[in-house]
Amino acid sequence: MERRKILVVDFGGQYVRLIARRIRELGVFSEIISPEAGLDYFSQEEVAGIVLSGGPASLKMAGAPLIDSRIFSLGKPILGICYGMQLMAELLPGGHLKASSRSEYGRADLLIKEPVGVFQGITVSGGGKSPGKKVAKKSFPVWMSHGDSVEEVPEGFQVLAETKELLVAAMADSARNLYGLQFHPEVEHTCYGREILGNFVHQICGVTGSWNIKEIVSEKINQIRTKLGSRAGVVLGLSGGVDSAVTAALLHRAVGERLQCIFIDHGLLRMGEVQQVVETFSREFKLPLITVDARERFLKKLAGVRDPEVKREIIGETFVRVFEEEAGKLKDITHLAQGTIYSDVIESGEHSNAEIIKSHHNVGGLPEKMELDIVEPLRDLFKDEVRELGEELGLPAEIIYRQPFPGPGLAIRIIGEVTPERLEILRQADAIFRKELEKSRVSQQIWQAFAVLPDIRSVGVEGDSRTYGYPIILRAVSSSDAMTADWVKIPGEELDRISRKIVNRVKEINRVVYDITSKPPATIEWE
Ligand code: XMP
Repeated sequence: MERRKILVVDFGGQYVRLIARRIRELGVFSEIISPEAGLDYFSQEEVAGIVLSGGPASLKMAGAPLIDSRIFSLGKPILGICYGMQLMAELLPGGHLKASSRSEYGRADLLIKEPVGVFQGITVSGGGKSPGKKVAKKSFPVWMSHGDSVEEVPEGFQVLAETKELLVAAMADSARNLYGLQFHPEVEHTCYGREILGNFVHQICGVTGSWNIKEIVSEKINQIRTKLGSRAGVVLGLSGGVDSAVTAALLHRAVGERLQCIFIDHGLLRMGEVQQVVETFSREFKLPLITVDARERFLKKLAGVRDPEVKREIIGETFVRVFEEEAGKLKDITHLAQGTIYSDVIESGEHSNAEIIKSHHNVGGLPEKMELDIVEPLRDLFKDEVRELGEELGLPAEIIYRQPFPGPGLAIRIIGEVTPERLEILRQADAIFRKELEKSRVSQQIWQAFAVLPDIRSVGVEGDSRTYGYPIILRAVSSSDAMTADWVKIPGEELDRISRKIVNRVKEINRVVYDITSKPPATIEWE
């Protein structure tokens, strides 16, 4: 398999992950990286090309993120997108940027002046007298989102395309393989975006598109075997979610019986989940599963804790400690496997100096002193790639398409202190909500649906009596990778039915509210 990769330098743009996904869809491995990664990283042999992403900053303002300008002399092809292109104009001699107080968003018609480089071979079927004939397409819609613009291209560059508003909508120094696009080729609204990125990746960087799921499976298995050698034993924490299940399937293929799975019941799981995980797992893997009842231990540690990040830390740390203890009872265990995936790594800010949004418990919450070596075979894969891998490994749909469930479980869906009573209230309401949604016509749109228990009470009336109970918050979102999400428009009559069932069956709850916030500005989970 092609080993070379494209680095996507993250300047904080909302489409950074989309760029990485698009490149992977072209069959080429891509990696998101901080601008501060250092020249050594950028100049590695396996780096076939570099994309400088867009970003919200303006180079005309102090503190805008920069990059070492020697990157342009490494001899690697570079594609600057939006802010990335402006950065080229700012850092390379002769370039000049024009500040703008007005931003241009949305559609623009791109007129290609030089159909070379990234615009090579962009053709469209001709109509009229010669239908089907391929003719060079000169103008097509693209998606813009920028304030500043390039007024003068750097020395050695030529203008490749313009729009009505922009004299320089695309530029290139073809001799040095440096390209800049003011528009976003990665978004769907840009016509030929795929072809433009494809030209960069395949033609200009010269990487073949051989990165596919079948290859990934065998590569991952080889990597695991190399890492573990012929004797090491590995212990895996199984949560029942797709990430740990795919990790288990991969490890099982790689090292067979040397994999030992431990399922820790931390007491923060949903209704019926423990039995479900144990049952599915023993049926699918036919491997002995160690189930540890650590409910009391976790709850004791969480007693009195209200801060979400502290909860995560405690759960992460206790999890690993329980693991180490259990692994210590087994023979020849040297490694701890985890189902960390790429979005966990990105959101924990590990790849850059990005602000930490939430420390995911399987990354940021890890205690510093680990007694076992870590194996994370899914660390560079996005969720949908993990699902594809699961399919390739033959896992059943009920595991692969299971809704994601956070490692810290219901603890981050209970605002304030986690107690056995409050867990029980949440469990009941959550189970009713999810069961009702199964019958709904919106069920296909749902990425995650769950209930959240806040730590406030409100007044209600039942029969002739006043009640003072908990409200419950329902949240259902659609998403493709959890990076962004929208709330699901559950029909009013269904919400009505769900609300009645919850207040009738869960006596502590006297009010039901539905969360109608997208991500951003909210996150999917409440904590
Ligand atoms: P947020 O709330 O950040 O969640 O929008 C994005 C996705 O990540 C899940 N999530 C977690 N998963 N450990 C996990 O394994 C965690 O600490 C954690 N926090 C959030 C969340 O359910 C959603 O799918």
